[in-house]
Amino acid sequence: MNKKQTAGQKAAEWIKDGMKVGLGTGSTVYYTILELGERLKNERLQIDAIPTSKETEKLAQSLGIPLTTFADVTRLDVVIDGADAVTPTYDLIKGGGGALLREKLVAKSADTFIVVVDDSKQVNDFKGLPIPIEIVPFAFQTTMQRISTFSSELALRMKKPNAVGAVNAVNEPFVTDNGNYVVDAKFAHMDSIGSPAKLHEKLKSLTGVVETGLFTGMADIVVVGCDEGAKVFR
Ligand code: 5RP
Repeated sequence: MNKKQTAGQKAAEWIKDGMKVGLGTGSTVYYTILELGERLKNERLQIDAIPTSKETEKLAQSLGIPLTTFADVTRLDVVIDGADAVTPTYDLIKGGGGALLREKLVAKSADTFIVVVDDSKQVNDFKGLPIPIEIVPFAFQTTMQRISTFSSELALRMKKPNAVGAVNAVNEPFVTDNGNYVVDAKFAHMDSIGSPAKLHEKLKSLTGVVETGLFTGMADIVVVGCDEGAKVFR
């Protein structure tokens, strides 16, 4: 079993009968969703789930996981999602897959937010790591200009050559499920900014920025897949 699978499967244990569940996006929580699909086949388990992306919605549907929406649900008992980086105080960078806005909206509605990662995602701090930032396409050049006044390096995320619907992939911006663009920005002067939470506030105050991939003070439990198995941090 690989480390992502170890973490993803372990986290499925938190899902109990009758729960409303948020399902994250990515290759680690993929294993949580597969495990949930298996449990639905083998146990008398009734749950309703809200997916954080069209990709996860498709996967959940293919496994027969019942889906709901925020029209019918206000709180979620548990939300399980991956991350691109996790600090010792459980601050996260998310958005590697471009689902950060829906992921944050879903995680903010969680009674318990569980993060699943392999041990390569554990970092001491975010220095030098790219932070995904969702921005509106209109006048995106000017939004990027505003971000660049304190970012050391930034790039508009482009579609991957083999992405679904990528015709002239290399020259087309990646578009989120919300119809927005994503900028990946590095902040070499993190120390002078203060903290990830301050950086998030600073970025959110810029016109054109919709959301950032900085998830601070949100994770309740982190499940880390490593060679020895799953380690659980609370
Ligand atoms: C998607 C995300 C993912 O959760 C994050 O990128 C981790 O993905 P993976 O588990 O595939 O490494 O934030 O927007």
